[in-house]
Amino acid sequence: MPTPANRRAIIFGNGLDMDLQVLEQEARARIAAAGTLDALEDLRVEFLGKKGSVSALLKTLGAMAAEERKDKAPAIQALRQAVADGVAERKAALEADQLEQRLAAEVLDLSLPVAMAPRGTVHPVSQVMDELAEIFADLGFTVATGPEIEDDWHNFGALNMPASHPARAMHDTFYFPDAAPPREGQDREEPGRMLLRTHTSPVQVRTMLQEGAPLRIIAPGRVYRSDSDATHTPMFHQVEGLVIDRDIHLGHLKWTLETFLKAFFETQDIVLRLRPSYFPFTEPSVEVDVGFALVEGKRVLGGSGDAPGHGWMELLGSGMVNARVIAMSGLDPNEWQGFAFGVGVDRLAMLKYGMDDLRAFFDGDLRWLRHYGFSAFDQPTLSAGVGARNSGGGA
Ligand code: PHE
Repeated sequence: MPTPANRRAIIFGNGLDMDLQVLEQEARARIAAAGTLDALEDLRVEFLGKKGSVSALLKTLGAMAAEERKDKAPAIQALRQAVADGVAERKAALEADQLEQRLAAEVLDLSLPVAMAPRGTVHPVSQVMDELAEIFADLGFTVATGPEIEDDWHNFGALNMPASHPARAMHDTFYFPDAAPPREGQDREEPGRMLLRTHTSPVQVRTMLQEGAPLRIIAPGRVYRSDSDATHTPMFHQVEGLVIDRDIHLGHLKWTLETFLKAFFETQDIVLRLRPSYFPFTEPSVEVDVGFALVEGKRVLGGSGDAPGHGWMELLGSGMVNARVIAMSGLDPNEWQGFAFGVGVDRLAMLKYGMDDLRAFFDGDLRWLRHYGFSAFDQPTLSAGVGARNSGGGA
């Protein structure tokens, strides 16, 4: 077994004759002198790379007779190892130097004030939806969702509005381009006709079909109608409420709406007026008005609309779910009944937080969002009051 001392004695007879110990010393000296990681890498390639000088020595082993190989291999392997160790050592040292230099050069002043990242705000529509979810959760309602791209049957047919139904005219529906225009008598036979849902009521149908009864859900979401002015945008938000059970009557509807509106507007002074109305999917149908006072030209909710200086404002549509809708949703109308209501989320937000132009809701103007948006930390909770206090969370 050659030791460093007797390596000197190994002489190659194939033109690569050299003193391995001298070679090792030379390599070590050059490695130790490498001033940068790049220079070190160049040396590694020079010695140990595919065409490196040490690799070339290793290759000579292949051509040797077994005896000779046995004699010389350990010394060459040891040389390779020594060079590799040298490179690794130098690399660690250079990296440590580099770190030292960075630590010396880079100064962190912990007393400097932090540069605040820009903070967004929670859109009033999102805030109000969270408030609604919180209020209705307390009444045992869960949140249900459904697709915004609906088929004709879920949006109209199952809600007792077959193709010829005149109430469809009120919906200004966006149909998809490849959809045929409504035809006489067309309903479930062609459920593939796609449209942008005009209300959240199809979620009633979907949830009854999927989950059966009893049910207590709210379904907040985007809806679409071809309409645009200060109080109408082609996309807006509704929340649908649905209760299905065995003994549900109009009294439950009235109590639920009163409880919801008092919690939402954070006042006990909410007076409702229920007016007979018509929706194809409810029977009887009830339009719900809320009393307000005119204070300095602004509507402030509270008091009876019949009181002096007061008026009634139409707020939402509701009624007892039509037996035909219950049947089309897969339930037995002799066993199950219930109520439903639908209300504009944007309108609730405008009333509560005092915006007057609906279009600004969806312009994406940062100034509006900073002014009317809410802090993400302002989570609505019933115990602390569902109303958001710290509006304008943006920096
Ligand atoms: N879907 C109705 C609309 O958009 C609102 C409504 C919902 C009315 C539920 C009654 C019951 O106009």
